[in-house]
Amino acid sequence: MPPQILLIEDEDRMRQVIAMQISDLDLLIHEASDGAQALDIFDNQTIHLVITDIKLPKVSGMEILAHVKERNPDIPVIVITAYGSIENAVQAIREGAFDYVTKPFKEETLRESVKKALKVSRLAHEVRYLRQEIEDKFTFKNIVGDSPKICEVLELAGSVSHTDTSVLITGESGTGKELLSRATHMNSPRSSGPFSTVNCAAIPSSLLEAELFGYEKGAFTGAHKQVKGKFEMASGGTLFLDEIGDMELDVQAKFLRILETQQFERLGGSKTITADVRIIAATNKDLWQMVQDKTFREDLFYRINVFPIQIPPLRERKEDIYPLSQHFIREFSKAFGKKPPSLSDSGLKKLLAYPWKGNIRELKNVLERAMILCTTDVIMPDHLILNPYQEKAIDTLPLDKLIPMMIGDGLEALENRCIAFAMEQAGNNVSKAARILGISRATLRYRLEKSEKT
Ligand SMILES: Nc1ncnc2c1ncn2[C@@H]1O[C@H](COP(=O)(O)OP(=O)(O)OP(=O)(O)O)[C@@H](O)[C@H]1O
Ligand SMILES: [Mg+2]
Repeated sequence: MPPQILLIEDEDRMRQVIAMQISDLDLLIHEASDGAQALDIFDNQTIHLVITDIKLPKVSGMEILAHVKERNPDIPVIVITAYGSIENAVQAIREGAFDYVTKPFKEETLRESVKKALKVSRLAHEVRYLRQEIEDKFTFKNIVGDSPKICEVLELAGSVSHTDTSVLITGESGTGKELLSRATHMNSPRSSGPFSTVNCAAIPSSLLEAELFGYEKGAFTGAHKQVKGKFEMASGGTLFLDEIGDMELDVQAKFLRILETQQFERLGGSKTITADVRIIAATNKDLWQMVQDKTFREDLFYRINVFPIQIPPLRERKEDIYPLSQHFIREFSKAFGKKPPSLSDSGLKKLLAYPWKGNIRELKNVLERAMILCTTDVIMPDHLILNPYQEKAIDTLPLDKLIPMMIGDGLEALENRCIAFAMEQAGNNVSKAARILGISRATLRYRLEKSEKT
């Protein structure tokens, strides 16, 4: 379908001439001879570009311009003004017109303006489409889980997202810290600004400064041209400091000063640059412990820890394992072009019993592998390949951690874990283990034999 143009001109001959001049540009032209008719067409067709005379009977060209801009500011409007009425043209540009042509105009003038306007409107449309795709990908809606713990996290993030307050997201590796940061940015008034990421762990301290603040040409050997830093690039948006616990102490000092003033100089430069940046930091380290150990500056800790959000590990919100599994199965099915298999009860049980040290990232990987291994329409336990060391590790977990994790597995399974735990504590001495459990030696022996058989 070619782009659709709305051409509004009350003089019939003039309108026909204009339509002729642009007739070979592969356009679908809707003609209107007055403003009222034009508005009717505009509201009922998908118009990509409007060309309008300023002086029209009934509804003026300026009113049409205002109507179009109100409905969709991305649709360009070219206004046609009479010779000698430059004030009108200036006024129209101020009100958002893309361009103006003054009667009488050369054929080429209008054609060039139309071509440019269509290009701009196509780009605006593409940007909007891509932005929508990113927004859809990074909204809070895509953070799967309905456990009270994740709901609380989402509520906190939702309430701080509208502000410029610094946020510190903590949680074990793979719990979704980056995902939450992006969603917080996307729900903020800065969402149309950049989301600039600095991974403080991946960059050596000598380079981190250059990465953050940029440098001037000749600042050091190899600085062939001026480069803007992430701080400057994030202006108007969000700077995401990933793995902030890995930032070296000397960089921490510089960084603190900049956070306080939002001003800095590029390396080798003297000009002070101001950047309007919102900070979201993330770490899997215990920053407060690091402050005690003097490996993280206390003042920086307070500066970034204004609004802390802790994402609990997956093993503490087991209710999320099933919805997350369903989500990843659907995602991988789409990617692999397969019909989504279902997850067997025994498969789900296996996932529920596992401690998930790698959290959601690990669950995602396990399911990706399962999707490849599973050739039927049901994912069975054999398809779910877990880390055997982690599977074992659960047996030695303290009971206060173990019990909440095993709820839903049945009392017998829980008892077996208790027995395994007691045996471990007792160094496999049955009498000692029986004493720990408060049962007779014979009962324990019987239970041990029974669990060996199953
Ligand atoms: N609640 C969730 N819903 C859907 N996907 C999730 C969720 N949490 C995490 N993920 C997915 O798990 C993976 C790991 O998440 P992310 O990279 O945000 O974790 P992280 O906490 O930043 O990890 P690390 O500390 O290792 O950097 C990503 O693919 C992410 O999309
Ligand atoms: Mg991360």
